[in-house]
Amino acid sequence: MHQIPVRKAVIPTAGLGTRFLPVTKSLPKVLLPILDKPMLQYVVEEAVQAGVEQIILVVSPGSESVAGYFQPDAALEAHLIDSGTPELAEMVKHAANLAAVSVVVQEQPLGLGHAVLMAKHAVGSEPFVVILPDDIIVSIRDTESGKSWPGATAQMIEVFHRHGGGVVAVEPLPWEVVHNYGVVDGAPVADRVSKIQGLVEKPPREDAPSNLAIVGRYVLPPDIFGCLERTQPGAKGEIQLTDALLLLLETTELYSYEFWGRRYDGGTPLGLLKAALEFGLAREDTRRAVEIMLKELG
Ligand code: G1P
Repeated sequence: MHQIPVRKAVIPTAGLGTRFLPVTKSLPKVLLPILDKPMLQYVVEEAVQAGVEQIILVVSPGSESVAGYFQPDAALEAHLIDSGTPELAEMVKHAANLAAVSVVVQEQPLGLGHAVLMAKHAVGSEPFVVILPDDIIVSIRDTESGKSWPGATAQMIEVFHRHGGGVVAVEPLPWEVVHNYGVVDGAPVADRVSKIQGLVEKPPREDAPSNLAIVGRYVLPPDIFGCLERTQPGAKGEIQLTDALLLLLETTELYSYEFWGRRYDGGTPLGLLKAALEFGLAREDTRRAVEIMLKELG
């Protein structure tokens, strides 16, 4: 059942990136690199691996550089080939060929829910994924079964095809930090899957219904847009996606899914550094050098 393909991903990129000031005065945060690729490319590749064909970037006014990153650049490619660096030309081409990338502008920073609503027409009437690029998720192996898990988005779509409705990624976190996240209240229905009974955005610790924090991956039906239109400003005075999900819950079954993977907070300098080390250790071409560096640093 529910084998409707999920072809579109909405990626909100319009955040102010305050924790990376002053660099984010002139560079959108999502273009900050992890090793040799911007953090945005990691989540686009995760979406493409999951079968997504169209990427809808929600950008702030004046963020043309985000849109431009995925556009082909024939002159640059020709120059790189002529100057004897075809491997660089390949990298440029790869970024441009990943998916069909389009852009919608969020004129005002009114919240995550508002950002997703900006993609209403681009998404149309089909299920889609929302990927928050700050949440960088590295695939891992289940050491018990030896299984290598695909990216978090592919796992989410698989759960969506099994259960239908909508699927929200969650991670059990220490109670001391849950007030920074959306939190779900759910009843387990399958391995790592719970049926959601309630959600709350950034609750004080004592009001949190669980320590299952929402992580930035969602598979949503198009009905979410009507809910977003009815959502009033909530936590931080912003239109929250979590509040719209609570409205959606009145008509639609929602599931939380504890994905396999290690998550890094690309919204902070330290989180980005940790992600860079993880990718540096995972990649053939950098592993040895990173291992030596870590040893030298003690
Ligand atoms: C957003 C969501 C929140 C979620 C978090 C995950 O919050 O509103 O529900 O837990 O992303 O990263 P933000 O981090 O934008 O404040």
